[in-house]
Amino acid sequence: MLLKTMAMVNLLSLFILVEVVVRGFRYGVEGLRMDYYLMSCPFAEQIVKDTVNTALQNDPSLAAALVRMHFHDCFIEGCDGSVLIDSTKDNTAEKDSPGNLSLRGYEIIDDAKEQLEEQCPGVVSCADIVAMAARDAVFWAGGPVYDIPKGRKDGRRSKIEDTINLPFPTFNTSELISAFGKRGFTAQEMVALSGAHTLGVARCATFKGRLSSADPTLDSSFAKTLSKTCSGGDNAEQPFDATPRSFDNFYFNALMRKSGVLFSDQTLYTSPRTRGIVNGYAMNQAMFFFDFQQAMIKMGTLDVKEGSKGEVRQDCRKIN
Ligand code: HEM
Repeated sequence: MLLKTMAMVNLLSLFILVEVVVRGFRYGVEGLRMDYYLMSCPFAEQIVKDTVNTALQNDPSLAAALVRMHFHDCFIEGCDGSVLIDSTKDNTAEKDSPGNLSLRGYEIIDDAKEQLEEQCPGVVSCADIVAMAARDAVFWAGGPVYDIPKGRKDGRRSKIEDTINLPFPTFNTSELISAFGKRGFTAQEMVALSGAHTLGVARCATFKGRLSSADPTLDSSFAKTLSKTCSGGDNAEQPFDATPRSFDNFYFNALMRKSGVLFSDQTLYTSPRTRGIVNGYAMNQAMFFFDFQQAMIKMGTLDVKEGSKGEVRQDCRKIN
């Protein structure tokens, strides 16, 4: 009997081993794999990481920009590098929409792409570079380290009108839950992803609407801080939290003090539907880091294009 059980266990282990070897380290989305570039471009990850690190040493504020770029790429047309495409005389691309005008960091992607094209021409997609760069930026800023599956293909469509599907900073919690729910995210994942606002800044234009009338969800002395920022004009920048270059949970603590910058930030604490999640992340950074990395990996698989549905662009700014 014991021998029989041992034989069964051995057989099962063998089966699992064969599964792993044959299928490779696949991720949920068919075709995406952790080791996608292992044979075709073994230094791809390292090249992206070195490029990101060098750029961020020169300008640490670009960590925020890279994380935001990945979000704006994935939410429109899926994670397919569509946000990188330049407008042409016949087409106004996503990047020229009002919601994308303050995106930055395109030259970091170009730089990585140029090196990758030298090493392994036509292999590494721009969409994968954006996803890896965002991941490396999070870690560089002190956030969690995580691996992401690769193998995204680049899309051939980038149209300004598609960006209407980006969430607005005036959204309330129900609208945010619905916008993220349409993409398959839970309310908890939406709050975790909003925690990316631990990095970076918002321009006055995106929150000045909150200052025109008394807002009980906005701390009165923080309202004065925001007004002072806005005295510098629409493009004056307000950090989301006290440590805009560090990936930490200060953003959630700020929300608890009614010191969220955007209406869409503060609503996460105002609403009983998400307040408990904000409290949890404010009290437990490890939990925020864990949920954030899981949600980022999930976001990175949104409507991914595979095989002939996409291409590997030669120049991230132009379709081939
Ligand atoms: C929940 C819905 C969201 C809304 C309404 C929103 C809106 C905004 C707005 C209005 C800004 C300032 C833009 C400007 O000043 O022009 C901003 C900045 C930023 N967003 Fe979001 N966002 C959301 C979710 C996310 C997510 C999911 C991520 C990433 C995972 C993200 C990452 C960032 C980062 C890092 C910045 C700072 C960029 C910089 O400093 O250059 N946001 N967001």
